[in-house]
Amino acid sequence: MHILRQVGQIRQIKQIRHFAQTNRHSQVLRVLGLESSCDDTAAAIVTSSGEILSETNRHQHAIHSQHGGIVPGLAANHHLMNMPLVVHETLKAAGLQISDLDAIAVTRGPGLPASLAVCVSAGKTLAAVHEKPLIGVHHMEAHALMARMGAEDKVQFPYLCLLISGGHTLTLVVHDVNEYTMIGTTRDDSIGEAFDKVARELQIPWIDAQIGGGAGPALEQCALAGDRTRFPLPVPMDKADSAGSPDFSFSGLKTHIKRMREQALFDPLCAQDQADVAAAFQMTAAKHLRKKTVLAFRRARELLQGQPLSCLVASGGVASNLAVRQVLAGLAAKEGVELVCPPPSLCTDNGVMIAWAGIERLRRGLLDPYTIDFIQRWPLEDLKQMGYTKRTSSF
Ligand code: KG4
Ligand code: ZN
Repeated sequence: MHILRQVGQIRQIKQIRHFAQTNRHSQVLRVLGLESSCDDTAAAIVTSSGEILSETNRHQHAIHSQHGGIVPGLAANHHLMNMPLVVHETLKAAGLQISDLDAIAVTRGPGLPASLAVCVSAGKTLAAVHEKPLIGVHHMEAHALMARMGAEDKVQFPYLCLLISGGHTLTLVVHDVNEYTMIGTTRDDSIGEAFDKVARELQIPWIDAQIGGGAGPALEQCALAGDRTRFPLPVPMDKADSAGSPDFSFSGLKTHIKRMREQALFDPLCAQDQADVAAAFQMTAAKHLRKKTVLAFRRARELLQGQPLSCLVASGGVASNLAVRQVLAGLAAKEGVELVCPPPSLCTDNGVMIAWAGIERLRRGLLDPYTIDFIQRWPLEDLKQMGYTKRTSSF
């Protein structure tokens, strides 16, 4: 085992030296990114100038919607079936072969273990066989850096990032690639989970679409026809004992709506009730985000001691919600910065963000050995303490 690891490391150091020599003068890097941390099997090839050469994404909305939530075993089985085809299609659409690429990036964590194992294993094998640099990407880092693709002049370090997805609800100071300070996090459910559970409570059918599918987008669409003032809901963590905390909480809001249904205060089979509760929930969740992001701005500025924040980035699946974006744009303007969000299709999980994070890490020489495994639970702040195989020259 020990000898095997040493041989692997020597081989990889050689391969990194070769990579550094051959790429010293090249202009544009091309990286393949693979993602299968949850229910999307995705791949993309992206360049260091921010061009998407090709992109493939196989969602599993239709499979999991019947179960009312993601079933980990089913998700992993479908990743196993789809990953080779997704990689093949992505290369074919770009007109490239693995040998044309500069590196292979894979989601290493956090996520569902059996799902992560598929992209990590696929990426490691491709990289090792073709002697390409391997980059194990933190899924949340990929969401946080996505807004920089093609906008590196605007989204400069440091910036404040609001990461709102199915797995997390976080405010972060993004100091640099690999360097984050978490300011607030959720004390219970993530905002994405809350959207999904409230959609289920309201019996809103999932949207089955390749882009913009699932429970959250279905709730957003339903809320368009709603009166958000008819069912006033309490804004979470707004009382004296928790109003000063930058943390989030969404389970109380979800439970409040569940109780309202149990008390027959609304009828989920009535389309107008459905839309009105959906609109009230969406607005209350957005208000909660806004209040806690204001506190995050204050803390970030204290932390940075006069160094300005370049902008507010909102990323992750829920950042594709237009009502949420509108509220956050108003807040950013008050804070004197611009709100920058990736396009909706790049807010939800995708291969492009993994490839782009791969490029950002590759440019800084943050590579990984072929022996890496997946990491199910992985605090973003731990990244800085982890060891990486540093390359030997800059490009
Ligand atoms: O970032 P993401 O694709 O996966 C994770 O890393 O978790 O986020 C998925 C979450 C799901 O809960 C989904 O319902 C929610 O984001 N979501 C939305 C919207 N699009 C995706 N929630 C509200 N409105 C949307 N338009
Ligand atoms: Zn995600």
